[in-house]
Amino acid sequence: MKILVTGALGQIGSELIDTLTDRYASENVFATDKKTNNQNFDCKFEKLDVLNYESIENIVTENNIDTIYHLAAILSAVAEEKPRLAWQVNMEGLKNVLEVAAKHDCAVFTPSSIGAFGPNTPKNKTPQDTIQRPTSMYGVTKVSGELLCDYYHTKFGVDTRGLRYPGIISNKTLPGGGTTDYAVEIYYEALKNGHYECFLEQDTQLDMMYMPDAIKAAIELMETPADKLTHRNAFNVTSMSVAPRDFANSIKEYLPDFTVEYKVDQTKQKIANSWPNSLDDSAATKEWGWEAEYDLDSMTKDMLDKLSVKLGIDFKIKE
Ligand code: NAD
Ligand code: SER
Repeated sequence: MKILVTGALGQIGSELIDTLTDRYASENVFATDKKTNNQNFDCKFEKLDVLNYESIENIVTENNIDTIYHLAAILSAVAEEKPRLAWQVNMEGLKNVLEVAAKHDCAVFTPSSIGAFGPNTPKNKTPQDTIQRPTSMYGVTKVSGELLCDYYHTKFGVDTRGLRYPGIISNKTLPGGGTTDYAVEIYYEALKNGHYECFLEQDTQLDMMYMPDAIKAAIELMETPADKLTHRNAFNVTSMSVAPRDFANSIKEYLPDFTVEYKVDQTKQKIANSWPNSLDDSAATKEWGWEAEYDLDSMTKDMLDKLSVKLGIDFKIKE
């Protein structure tokens, strides 16, 4: 397997690369991003703008790439500020990747999102197949991306697969401008300042997932034999359905003096209100054995543990 990753310096890519190089060997992984490399990847890295079709094609042909993890995108909050840029990167970038994949016989992994759903989608236990009428530009690009990936599969035979990721929590690279970024910031601020100003209301229920589960899901889906898949773009996956108040209470178990103030950002709140409270991910479990490992408490312990080391803060979990 020869793998190209786009958007490799982002929140997900910066951790996916390490798992891919461990699993498939460094010489089989090629990391790219529009930005200059700031990571110690154990594989080749080249700057690549996914809006440049020729550059993608050159990397694919010169390196015999057969699999593309396409992560380059604009996330929900930034997309709402810059909707035209979001359409360009999320749709033109994806179309370029799919065109190269069709021409050079590559498999393609593309994340979708809980953002692909909208206010008239069933809110609780949102089914795999249901109404998708998102109202944010991010959501419009995500549902269009799902359809485009399915189209390239049925029309051109490209092996396209995707996940509707919930908010991802991680401790290596900060998130890139999404509505769920609070769920990462809250851990940093709890350790650094003992206080956090949250931009969503305390009872805003959304699906979330810890990064090791997000990486595991992508790799397991891509390794599943094609004949096991009924769905492709994209599978609901989740680990927990939680609100800011739940994060605050979970952190307080280990940092009892931690406080949270709620100063709502109306643009982000409106986006969050249009997304499901909880996803039904039984299709992923049935078709490729998806199962999350982390819940809120095990994630909180691991986040506080790892972040305290990263930030040089004296902190030990008391069991
Ligand atoms: P991120 O914003 O952290 O990283 C995206 C990367 O893409 C950045 O490093 C950026 O430099 C790069 N990029 C932007 N424009 C580019 C271009 N024109 N050419 C090449 N690179 C470009 O995003 P992420 O969180 O790593 O998300 C990866 C994918 O997962 C996206 O499709 C996102 O929508 C999806 N997703 C993420 C989450 C989450 O919570 N992180 C949740 C659901 C879905
Ligand atoms: N975490 C992502 C965002 O908020 C969900 O797709 O944009």
